[in-house]
Amino acid sequence: MSRVTPDQLREMKTRGERIAMLTAYDYPTAQILDAAGLHILLVGDSMGMVVLGHPTTLPVTLDDIIRHTQAVVRGTEHALIVGDLPFGSFQVSTEETMRAAIRIMKEAAPQAVKLEGGRRVAASVRALTEAGIPVMGHVGLTPQSVNVTGGFKVQGKTERAARLLLDDVLALEEAGAFAVVLELVPAELARLVTERTSIPTIGIGAGPYCDGEVQVVHDIMGLFPDFTPRHTRRFAELGAAMREAAQAYVAEVRERTFPAAAQSAKMSAEVIAALRAEDAQGAAPDASSQEEPPAVSQAEGEADGYAPPKPARN
Ligand code: KIV
Repeated sequence: MSRVTPDQLREMKTRGERIAMLTAYDYPTAQILDAAGLHILLVGDSMGMVVLGHPTTLPVTLDDIIRHTQAVVRGTEHALIVGDLPFGSFQVSTEETMRAAIRIMKEAAPQAVKLEGGRRVAASVRALTEAGIPVMGHVGLTPQSVNVTGGFKVQGKTERAARLLLDDVLALEEAGAFAVVLELVPAELARLVTERTSIPTIGIGAGPYCDGEVQVVHDIMGLFPDFTPRHTRRFAELGAAMREAAQAYVAEVRERTFPAAAQSAKMSAEVIAALRAEDAQGAAPDASSQEEPPAVSQAEGEADGYAPPKPARN
C-alpha cells in the first residue's frame, strides 16, 4: 500500500474531505494508528511532555526526534509521517535548519518535516522545499515559544494578531509549505485562514472549520494524567485500563496464579529427576567437563515463544 502524499492532501482539501492526523512516538502505537486509517502521523516534540515528562517541549533533541521517527516509520505503511524540528534545530539559520532536516530525512526517512513559525521561518521553508523536503508549517500557539507567549494561550484574538497570523500562513504557502497546523486560534479565524489559503489547514484547538484535525495521541487515549487540554476529548481511557491491568498482574504474581502452565516451558521428567538425584548427593559434575548448552534453533525458539516466526517466503 502506498503512502499518503502532500498532493493527495491538497486534493482532499479541494474535495472537502477531512484529514485525520495524530501524534505517534513509538512502533506499536504507529502500527495501530496506521491500521486505523490516520492520514498523517506526526512525531511531535510534544513527546517531551507526554512521553519524557518534561514541563515543556524545549528539552527535546534532534536525536530524540530521529530515534522516534525511525520507530514510527518502521511501524507504518500508509500514513504520511512528519518529523518535528525540535527547539534549537532551526532557530539559528537556514543552513542549520537544512542540516537538521536533512539528518531527519536521511536517518529516519519520514515523508516531511514540520517547523514552528510563520514569516520568520519562510526563507528556511523555501530552502527546504527547494531541496526536496516537504514542509508542514505551524502557527498560532507555537509551544517552543511558550516562554514568550506566557503559557499555552489562545492566539490571534485581536484584529492585529489575527492579521499577522493570516499573513504568516500566506507566507508559508508562498514559501512552498504543503500544509499548516493552526494551534489554539479562534474558530472563526481558522475558518477565514482555511478559506484564504490553498494548502490544507490542520487544527488543534482551532475549531471545526479546518481542513483536518490533529491531536496528541496521549490526550485522546487518556494516557496523560497531568492535565487534559480544553481542546481535546478522551476517546478512550487507556491509562485507567493499564492501571487495572497492572493491578491484576500484581495480584496474580503475589497469589502465584501467574505464570501458570500455559506460560511455562516443560522438560523431560528423567532429566530433572537425574539432576535432583545428583543434587541430593552433592555430586555436581566437574564444571570443566560441562558442555555448552546447545543453541536454541529457530523452530524451538518459535515453539517456546522467544523468537518471532520467520517471515513466509514469496
Ligand atoms: O509536537 C506536537 O505534537 C505538535 C502538535 C501539537 C501539532 O506540534
